[in-house]
Amino acid sequence: MCGIIGYVGPRSAVQVIMDGLRRMEYRGYDSAGLAVVADGRLAGRKKAGKLTNLAAELEVDPLPGSHQGIGHTRWATHGGPTDANAHPHYSADGRVAVVHNGIIENFTALRHRLEADGVVFQSQTDSEAVAHLLSQGLATGLDLLTALRQVCLQLDGAFTLVALDAQAPDRIVAARRNSPLVVGVGQGENFLASDVASFIEHTRDAIELGQDQVVEITPDSVKVVTFAGQVAPTRPYRIDWDLSAAEKGGYDWFMRKEIYEQPRAVADTLLGRIDADGRLCLDEMRIDRAKLRSVDKIIIVACGTAYHAGLIAKYAIEHWTRIPCEVEIASEFRYRDPIVNASTLVVTISQSGETADTLMAIRHAREQHAPVVAICNTNGATIPRESDAVIYTHAGPEIGVASTKGFTTQIVACYLLGLYLAQERGIKFGDEVAALVRRLAALPDQMQQVLDGLDQVAELARRQIEARSVLFIGRHVGYPVALEGALKLKEISYLHAEGFAAGELKHGPIALIEPGLPIFVVVPPQGRDSLHDKVISNLQEVRARGAWTIVLAERGDQEASRWADCLIELPIVPTLFQPLVAIVPLQFFACELATLKGYDVDQPRNLAKSVTVE
Ligand code: AGP
Repeated sequence: MCGIIGYVGPRSAVQVIMDGLRRMEYRGYDSAGLAVVADGRLAGRKKAGKLTNLAAELEVDPLPGSHQGIGHTRWATHGGPTDANAHPHYSADGRVAVVHNGIIENFTALRHRLEADGVVFQSQTDSEAVAHLLSQGLATGLDLLTALRQVCLQLDGAFTLVALDAQAPDRIVAARRNSPLVVGVGQGENFLASDVASFIEHTRDAIELGQDQVVEITPDSVKVVTFAGQVAPTRPYRIDWDLSAAEKGGYDWFMRKEIYEQPRAVADTLLGRIDADGRLCLDEMRIDRAKLRSVDKIIIVACGTAYHAGLIAKYAIEHWTRIPCEVEIASEFRYRDPIVNASTLVVTISQSGETADTLMAIRHAREQHAPVVAICNTNGATIPRESDAVIYTHAGPEIGVASTKGFTTQIVACYLLGLYLAQERGIKFGDEVAALVRRLAALPDQMQQVLDGLDQVAELARRQIEARSVLFIGRHVGYPVALEGALKLKEISYLHAEGFAAGELKHGPIALIEPGLPIFVVVPPQGRDSLHDKVISNLQEVRARGAWTIVLAERGDQEASRWADCLIELPIVPTLFQPLVAIVPLQFFACELATLKGYDVDQPRNLAKSVTVE
């Protein structure tokens, strides 16, 4: 997820762009850049790091005055956060500048074709290919809008593109597919942006672009057509958010916004990882197949929510690969004198990529010559840099301290790793892997179904506002879901909450049950041997002792609904994939209860987004 802005009008383009990028830094902040058209030429600056680095650059080396330009603040997907990989990207002839948000799935094939045409790439990014393709179209005499349409018809994946042509000094073009783009309509000026926060101080009149549409703006006109060239109807609207709400996309908290971003984040994490033959291709996995075949044990190390993702991963990885898989709290790992050697694959999971406990754990693992794979959401962070290979999640920046989309995309990345290992070791045939990947690809829609039905959970939070303690129970992958649900509630509503393996209740925790005590029960899908029935028994046990049962069960589970004081129905998904739909109501419940209590959901007391101390 990146921040993009384009401007054409009477104001200073540099000023409008830099102000707009500041308002979108939460969308990505590992590099930034801008380009303007002045005297028929492009002029631009771009810098790795925070936007302040770019501002400092402009102080010492200002751009010429201009009333037309584009800007970008980056959240890296392809290629680390370097000056060269920062946007804008330019065509070899210096005529075109492009900024991009999203993932171009067929980037490799496009790059090979362009390099065969003699193009020399200046960056590792997928975005640069668009600049070269666009200039090739212009060189044949196409106008800028047509040239962009022709390029979009060649692209697969998710993208918002905004482009400048040095020879078109009064217009900017943009395109969108599966990625946000909005037009800000001013008086004698117009804006293009990832979200309204970037131009809301100049105009509250906007036009939302539809799927597969391109737009051309001049100071006095907005023209929208489809990729095929048909004039597209526009949907003008009036923005009634204040600036703070605009930065959160209209939500009250970044956490709530990020809960709702999960379907997109999961879909983006899957993008570009399945080739035309349906095989998994994890191009960041730089551990050779022979090494992967020699692995005889996997140890997952992580902290907090990432650790819970690892617990879920264990069930899937062991089931698919038949390799023993341990999951360790990173701060405990190196003190237990673990048995680690060159045949142990160590997998670290970290949203920030900077967690000190996890970093120390992988340094210990590497001293034992173990290959290390990082699952991380932050391109170029310390942990992936110190690992042998990395699988990046593509959740975009996660601002809320309580991890949500970070968690669900970590689980998906772990699934991809497990299936990749099974594929590379020949444990699963291609068609078996492809079938599971197809089920994974259906999950964003199923998660969206849960998100569309959360009013019930908001009511539940209102009912439980006085609760003094909440328990969570589950079995199999439902057990880590119970742990994660409890952690979410603990860390933002400061309430005692505890997760248990449902089978453990009778070994002690059931003594906690008293009349009215709210208990979330994660019921596995029906059909998986005795798993479902055993949890129904646990549900009966706690209900018999007066607990107030909040039951999460798949749609149509009559048995579960019989024992539910509150039933939250989930889409029917495979057992191993249920955490992705079951966790959503628990995240939302914690967010809603903390909001009702008047707490700061995004920055809870005593916590930090990235714990860089041991
Ligand atoms: C989760 O909501 C917390 N913010 C915390 O447990 C977090 O998951 C943990 O600190 C690990 O952070 P990381 O994923 O950035 O390594």
